[in-house]
Amino acid sequence: MALLALASVANLGVLLGSRQQPGELCSSKYSEAVEKWRLLSRFPTEYSPRDHRPDWYWEFLLEGQQKGRPSTDRIANLQMDDIGYGDQWLEVLFGQAQEGVVGCFVHGGRYWEVTMDLAQLLDLLPEANRSLFLEGVCRMLPPAARASTLAGFLPSSLRLSMCTPHDCTPEWITRILIPEFEAGKMFGSPAASLLTGIFLQDVVNVQEVLNWPSLHLDFAIAGVDNCGTTSLHRNLEQHPEIAFSSSEEDFFFVSDVVHRLLPLRSQVEEFNRRIALAKDKKWQETSQFVS
Ligand SMILES: *[C@@H]1O[C@H](CO)[C@@H](O)[C@H](O)[C@H]1NC(C)=O
Repeated sequence: MALLALASVANLGVLLGSRQQPGELCSSKYSEAVEKWRLLSRFPTEYSPRDHRPDWYWEFLLEGQQKGRPSTDRIANLQMDDIGYGDQWLEVLFGQAQEGVVGCFVHGGRYWEVTMDLAQLLDLLPEANRSLFLEGVCRMLPPAARASTLAGFLPSSLRLSMCTPHDCTPEWITRILIPEFEAGKMFGSPAASLLTGIFLQDVVNVQEVLNWPSLHLDFAIAGVDNCGTTSLHRNLEQHPEIAFSSSEEDFFFVSDVVHRLLPLRSQVEEFNRRIALAKDKKWQETSQFVS
């Protein structure tokens, strides 16, 4: 009775917050954060060293490293002749990717890899707008590539990293953040304005990326063929508190995430699911053994 009486006099309210649609919320938070996070979504950050990069790209990256923060001797002493896939470069690339994703998490954001198919995008534009768009694409390419770009020979895709507020989904990134914010930064405003009203869903791929420590992994046994990794695996597996992700070799690092500087969220989740299953199985086996 007392409770009922209390309920009848209580004014129960909820805070509605703003009346913004989810897309507007993403967009307004992004525009607030964009200055703060400017350094975290710098173009072009290539995650995957799969394709060979031209010299201008490495020069750009090296310049960025030197300007962005006090350069370590190691980076400063890199010679242009060294460019390629030497250990030093991988270290720079991994360091930069890791810095980007961790910086983004610290700001409460989510980190994305955005790939844009430039040739398909060009096809979506009216004929009359294409040369202006190509001018915009030239801004991001080395001067030597200008003539061929204007003739329509485009890099197959463009990849950039983005740190967005937590509320942003791939849909809002594609529909709002790319055309309204990123396109201007990349292509300049005249070319970016051509994208208004263009349906980017088919030409932009947005995938969330995480950092390596998101993998629930404590150790790996790595080795060349016939060096005893299998017997080490079998022996360690006897221990009640050690579980392996697979009964044989696990090809995750040499197939799924090979060449990636950061793993996709989907890959991390899949891997962690496998680990969780392996752990459950191990717990069951050991508890049977004990009882
Ligand atoms: C883009 O193309 C349309 C025709 O499809 C034309 O009316 C418009 O002026 C063009 N815009 C620019 C900036 O060239």
